[in-house]
Amino acid sequence: MEYVEVQGTTFGFQSRGEGDLAVFVHGFPLDHRLWLDQLEGLQDLRRCVAPDLRGSGRSDPVASGVLAMEHLADDLAGLIETLGSSSADIVALSMGGYAALALWERHPERVRTLVLMDTRSGADSDAGRAGRREMAERVAAEGPGALVAGFQTALLAPTAGLAARVRLRGMVEGTPAETVVASLEGMARRADRTDILASINVPALVVVGADDGLTPPDVAEHMSGLIPNARLEVIPGAGHLPPIEAPEAVNELLRSFWTGS
Ligand code: MLT
Repeated sequence: MEYVEVQGTTFGFQSRGEGDLAVFVHGFPLDHRLWLDQLEGLQDLRRCVAPDLRGSGRSDPVASGVLAMEHLADDLAGLIETLGSSSADIVALSMGGYAALALWERHPERVRTLVLMDTRSGADSDAGRAGRREMAERVAAEGPGALVAGFQTALLAPTAGLAARVRLRGMVEGTPAETVVASLEGMARRADRTDILASINVPALVVVGADDGLTPPDVAEHMSGLIPNARLEVIPGAGHLPPIEAPEAVNELLRSFWTGS
C-alpha cells in the first residue's frame, strides 16, 4: 500500500506498472481491492493506480454526514495532480462512475479517456432515496456487516464463485459505518448528469455485466447512446461487479480500449 496527501487528506492506494496514469475508482461500499486483478493484468500498459476513496479502506475517514460526489471528484482531480500527471485514464464503477461524471463536469482536463462500468448518469428516484435512508438506519443499528448477504445476492450474478463472494464480503465489512451512511446520503443527493454525456469528447467505453440488476444493460445502452462515439460492451456471466466476477474479460476489454486493437 502507498499513501499520498491531497490537500490535507491522506489517501491509500495500490499501484502497479509505469507510464501513463490510469486511475481505477471503486463503488459503494467497497475499496481499492475491487481492482486488484486489473492492476495485476494491465500493469504492462499503464501506471495502474487504485485509490481508496475518502472514508474507505486505508484513506482518511469522512468528516461529515454527506459524502458528495463533487467532493469525491475533487479528491480524484487532486490525486491525479499529486501523482504528477496532468490527466489520467479513468475506469470507474457504479458510485465511482457517479464521481467520474462529476469529475468530467468539474475537471474535464484531468480525464484522458473514460470507462464507465455498471453505473448510471441519472439521479435517484424518490423511492430510491427512501431506500437509501432505510439502509442507513439499518447500518446505524447493525453495522455494515448486515448488508453483506443482501449485497452478495443483489450485486453478483447467480454463478459468482467463492472468490468474488468473499472479496465482496471483505470490502463491505471493512468499510466504516460512517462512510456507508455518508455515501448513501451523498448518492441520494447526487445530481442528474445525463445532460453532460453529450459533452464527453474523449474516448469513452461503457461496460456492464449482462446480469447486472442494479444498473442493467438497458441503462448502459441508453448512456452510451448519449456519449459521442462511445463503445458499449456487455460482459456475459457478470452482475454489478465485473472486475471481480469476470476479471479476465474486463482486462481484455480495457486492453483493447487502451491499445485500440
Ligand atoms: C455501487 O456499486 O457503487 C452502488 O451500488 C451504487 C448505488 O447504490 O447507486
